[in-house]
Amino acid sequence: MDEVIKEYDNEDLTVVWKPGTCIHSEKCFKGLPAVFNPANRPWVTIDGATSKEIKDQIDLCPSGALSYKLKNQELMSAEIEDEQIVEVAKDGPLMVYGNIKVKNHDGSETSKHRVTAFCRCGASGNKPYCDGSHKNIGFQG
Ligand code: FES
Repeated sequence: MDEVIKEYDNEDLTVVWKPGTCIHSEKCFKGLPAVFNPANRPWVTIDGATSKEIKDQIDLCPSGALSYKLKNQELMSAEIEDEQIVEVAKDGPLMVYGNIKVKNHDGSETSKHRVTAFCRCGASGNKPYCDGSHKNIGFQG
């Protein structure tokens, strides 16, 4: 079956939403509810904040379910952080912020950008990445 992909445009960027990739971290609608609100249809209100605010919020999406395509050169030239930061999320995944390469057990490599969520609970169906299953099993740690 084809992956569902939805797009929302303004003059500066296109927000790309892949619902099948979401791990329900809730960062988007807690961080910018005027744009990302699951109670609304459509759930993305592209004119609810500035393009910079939307871009910055999407940069915090741990799963990559939300991403963007930039049209505005000023937003494109925003600084890319060299430093990686690792954060242990309470009762959830290991969050790695920054650009990283994941060496897979089969020898292949996967490039990850911005934020990557690694499973700590052992229940993910998409290891080594978190798929939100930690909530279903009541993981604590
Ligand atoms: S930590 Fe999220 S599925 Fe394991």
